[in-house]
Amino acid sequence: MRNTINLFKQMKVAGEPIPMVTAYDYTSAKILEEAEIPLVLVGDSLGQVVLGYETTVSVTMDDILHHAKAVIRGTQKIHVVADMPFMSYQATVVQALRNAARLMKEGGVQSVKMEGGVEVASKVNVLVNAGIPVMGHIGLTPQSVNQIGGYRIQGRNPESAKKILKDAESLVEAGVYALVLEAIPSEISKIITKSFPIPTIGIGAGSFCDGQVQVFHDLMGLFKDFVPRHAKNYGNLYDSVLLAVKDYVNDVKGNNFPTEQQIYHLSPTELAAMKGDIDLC
Ligand code: KIV
Repeated sequence: MRNTINLFKQMKVAGEPIPMVTAYDYTSAKILEEAEIPLVLVGDSLGQVVLGYETTVSVTMDDILHHAKAVIRGTQKIHVVADMPFMSYQATVVQALRNAARLMKEGGVQSVKMEGGVEVASKVNVLVNAGIPVMGHIGLTPQSVNQIGGYRIQGRNPESAKKILKDAESLVEAGVYALVLEAIPSEISKIITKSFPIPTIGIGAGSFCDGQVQVFHDLMGLFKDFVPRHAKNYGNLYDSVLLAVKDYVNDVKGNNFPTEQQIYHLSPTELAAMKGDIDLC
């Protein structure tokens, strides 16, 4: 049985921090499973770090579904939450229900994440009442990058901070089981974390949150196009992979690969059977 949303509420009550990472493919999902991560996100950040889109706006339902299925195949215990991509839920409640249901039924995920506050709360409520667990996402919401005018820290003035608090309140009332707080001052995330019974998961939201989420490629030092200040490299995979590929190229060019270790030979019996039929030079 996979981890359920109840576990994350229990972890908050117990004061046990919740580590969360994004996952996009079978192999990394298996590593995260072995590392006993309780919760992974098939984030629309896959648009940038895996598919090379400029922003997450281009990500489609099919993109998320394709990667969610791979992550599900690589995990057994982890709770997998998938992002509802841009414009997969904004138009109507029916659209939101249909697409969330696709992620759960076709993708196999256990819950969905939606960006936005007050403006999406009524749709969140309909999904939750239909039996679909929803994680909220407020503060910096990358799908709105064109409206916000860049990847800016939110909540730095009273008006913006009040909006974030109102967003949190309306989503909690709508029934979200957890809230991602992205790129907001630690003072604001502390208020939200202390005010509501659901877990807050921060990314660039300081240390008061109940959990932390990071993009896998940032943690592993695998994506160098743009590294936000709130990311910390726990590995340097870009350079390691580059070095490995260069070594391989040099070995092939220098006739040092393959070696006997990687070569298949015919056995004496197979060789004897070939003689006469094939000219083995
Ligand atoms: O898509 C994503 O990776 C996210 C995280 C930044 C929370 O939404």
